[in-house]
Amino acid sequence: MPVDLDDNVEDAVVQVMSYLVENETAALLVPARFCAETHPHFREMMQCLAIQCADEARHIEVFTRRLRLAGRSPGLSTAGGQASLKTLVDEPDFALASFMLSVLGEGGFLALLRFLDHYGPDAITRQVCRLAAGDEARHVALGVAHLELSARQLGPPGAGLGRGGGAEAGDGPGAAGATAADRLQRGRGRATVGVAHPELHVVT
Ligand SMILES: [Fe+2]
Ligand SMILES: [Fe+2]
Repeated sequence: MPVDLDDNVEDAVVQVMSYLVENETAALLVPARFCAETHPHFREMMQCLAIQCADEARHIEVFTRRLRLAGRSPGLSTAGGQASLKTLVDEPDFALASFMLSVLGEGGFLALLRFLDHYGPDAITRQVCRLAAGDEARHVALGVAHLELSARQLGPPGAGLGRGGGAEAGDGPGAAGATAADRLQRGRGRATVGVAHPELHVVT
């Protein structure tokens, strides 16, 4: 058998792998949805999202294979975990979804994968986590880059949404003293991935 761990340790590995597969599934669905909504002008972003989907599909495959390596079935999920992932899958705004998935989610995921790379109880677990961590680092980098762009569009604290967010200072309630959360909320649906490029002519 490729792995021969104590039963309790194998059970623990299976539970961790089940958690990883569940999260990887959400990480596949989110970029897949936004990829389909991206304007073709933004081809680099479409390509990054497509590659991210392929990465997550591969992660689901390898973590599932490790999960079943000793003949076990998937472990447990939690109602709280599923509810948390659903908020991510349901988020319609790319800037917010990207922040939640790639900065908060995959950022934390990266720490978990690196921990498993160092302390995993068998070579296969360590290797699949190490390889997946390399992919996740790219996803986090893209999320952080988009967060920086979104922050620039929102402007400094107290400013209006500005040009990138689609509204000027003084536009809407509480613009002058708006918190970042207020302005982010007002910008929902505006700072999307794909918008019509002015050089593209649409024939009607
Ligand atoms: Fe992943
Ligand atoms: Fe990822």
